[in-house]
This record gives sequence, C-alpha cells and structure tokens, in this order.
Amino acid sequence: MVSMKSDTGTMRIFKADKNGIQAAAEKIRQGELIAFATETVYGLGGDASNDRAVAAIYEAKGRPSFNPLIIHVPSLAIAREYVEFTPLAERLAQKFWPGALTLVLPRRKGCPVSLLASAGLDTLAIRVPGHRLALEFLTACDRPIAAPSANPSGGISPTTVHHVASGLEGRIAGILDGGSCAIGVESTVVGFHEGSPVLLRPGGISLELLESCSGPVRIHQGDGSTPSPGMLQSHYAPNAAVRLNATSKMPGEAYIAFGRDYDQIADVNLSLTGDLTEAASLLFSALHLMDEMNFSRIAVGPIPDIGLGRAINDRLRRAAAPRDNRQVVNQ
Ligand code: TXA
Ligand code: MG
Repeated sequence: MVSMKSDTGTMRIFKADKNGIQAAAEKIRQGELIAFATETVYGLGGDASNDRAVAAIYEAKGRPSFNPLIIHVPSLAIAREYVEFTPLAERLAQKFWPGALTLVLPRRKGCPVSLLASAGLDTLAIRVPGHRLALEFLTACDRPIAAPSANPSGGISPTTVHHVASGLEGRIAGILDGGSCAIGVESTVVGFHEGSPVLLRPGGISLELLESCSGPVRIHQGDGSTPSPGMLQSHYAPNAAVRLNATSKMPGEAYIAFGRDYDQIADVNLSLTGDLTEAASLLFSALHLMDEMNFSRIAVGPIPDIGLGRAINDRLRRAAAPRDNRQVVNQ
C-alpha cells in the first residue's frame, strides 16, 4: 500500500487487489470514509446505515444537508430490499445495471438507510455501479454505501485518485485506486411522477438510450413535481471563470475545444474526432488541469447537445454559473 504525505495527515491509497479491497471495506465498517472508483466519477463512500458516517460525508464535502446522497449496492436483488420497484423501474434496472443510471424510488418500510442520507425524503436514489472494483468493494462492505462525488461541494468532480487527493486530503480515511473513470460524468438520475419517468440529471446514460427502453422521458423543469434537491445552479466550478460557446479566444484565456473547429486556438481538445464519449471522459480532467495551471479564465467551444453532449453541457453551464448564486434551481 502506498501512502502520500499531506499537511493534515496521511492519505492511504488502497490497491485494487483482494487485500486492498478488504482493508478499505473494513474502514467502511468502522464508520470511516473511503473514496472509491466507479465507472462515472470517484465516489466518497460511507456506511449509509450509520448516521455518523453519513454526517461525516456531508462534513468532509462541506455539502448542504438538504442535498441527498446516492446509495450504492452490488446488485438489483439487494436494491429491491431497500426501495419499491415499479415494473418500469425494474425494466430500466434490468437494462442499465450495473451502470450509470440512478433510480429515485420510494423507500421500503424498515429500510436501514439513514434518513440523513436521503435528506428526510421518502425516496432513495440508488444505483449498481458498472465497475468491477466498485462491485467487489460494495460486496466486501456488506452494507449500503452512500457516495456523492468525492470532491468538495460545488467543485469539479474527480475522475482520478490525484483529483480526489487534492480535494479531500486529510478529510477521509483513504482512496480505493481504480485508475481513471471510463465515463467521466456522473450517472443519469431518473425519478418518477405518477408512474412516468422524469430526467432529474443528465448523465452517463444518454436520454436517447434511456428512452429506447422506457419510452418518452420528461425533462425536469423545476416545477416542484419531483424534487431534485441537488441541482445547484453553480456546481462543478473550477477556480477559473468559465465562458461557454466561445468561438474565439480572448487574451489571457485558456481554450477548451471539441472537434476540429477552433482546434487551432485550443489549449486542450476534448476530442479531435468529435466523439462525445471521449469528451465526457476528459471533461473534468481538463477543468482540473486548467486550475492546476492557474488559468483565471477558461473559454469552451460549442458542444452538440445530443447524447452525452447533454450531460457535458449541463456540467459546463453549472461550471459557468455565477458563483455567488449557489441556489437550488430544481426543487
Ligand atoms: O455517478 C454518480 O452518480 C456519482 C457516483 C459516485 O456514483 N455520484 C454522484 O452523487 O454524482 P452526487 O451526490 O454528487 O449527486 C447525487 C444527485 C444529486 O443531484 C442529488 O440531489 C440527487 O442525486 N438525489 C439524491 N437523492 C435524491 C432523491 N431522493 N430525490 C431526488 N434526487 C436525489
Ligand atoms: Mg457531485
């Protein structure tokens, strides 16, 4: 096991082998916090059935406690113990789990998940991640794991161990190292209103793919019908100011391009070939890199609003939103 010294203590890095997984799971069972790789982003994991561990997650992230957490489990069978599935929810879970889909469903009676994890709501957001290491870790923990993205609240989500360590060093017990996250944006969050699916957050499963299984999905517009407390207007924010749909680069700006248009002015290109999957996987790394290079202004070129482009543009709009205005837009 490798250790990285920090100002505030020592961050343990748990290797992706049997011993590493067991040691990290043991920390979880003791009520400590472990960041772990999923296929979307790194999660900041804690025992969801332990009120103190859940409170520690909010504390470590500086996250407002009205913003509920996603519960991670290793199988659909275990998810059924915690939430009530409708036939449509069951179909979506069968099709997309393990994978980048989070379902918001009614808690079952006797569900052991801390009420703090769901911010007092009578629903739970739940998913089975599509990452072999995450599944082995969840199985070893042998309890539901609450895991928001492993970054300080409002900041850029982490897709590498290095991102997690630079944001949370000294605040958590360690990181289970699964390398870089393949998808790179968070899961798609789907709730239900009077039985019909509602897109609460675009993410790793595209709307098009979702609808191919569920039929038409309503896009949540903040009309109060299905609460999505976490959709803060300012989020995913780098230190730098962000300008969107930029077709030129102003003096002092760093430029993030997509495709061949504007590549000649790019400091970083998310995908020269215009591949949205590649772009999603590099988005947060590009924003972290700009911060590390101390740019104070970032311009981002246009990105098509289809497929994974929807999730990319959603994150970029929040990264560009006024910072003094971290208000809830979809409540
Ligand atoms: O890919 C992901 O989803 C990652 C990885 C670690 O699994 N997790 C993640 O968690 O992005 P977080 O906490 O950063 O985002 C959870 C989102 C928030 O927008 C939150 O408000 C919403 O899910 N959410 C959680 N519980 C909810 C509920 N009961 N009803 C409605 N929205 C809920
Ligand atoms: Mg997050």
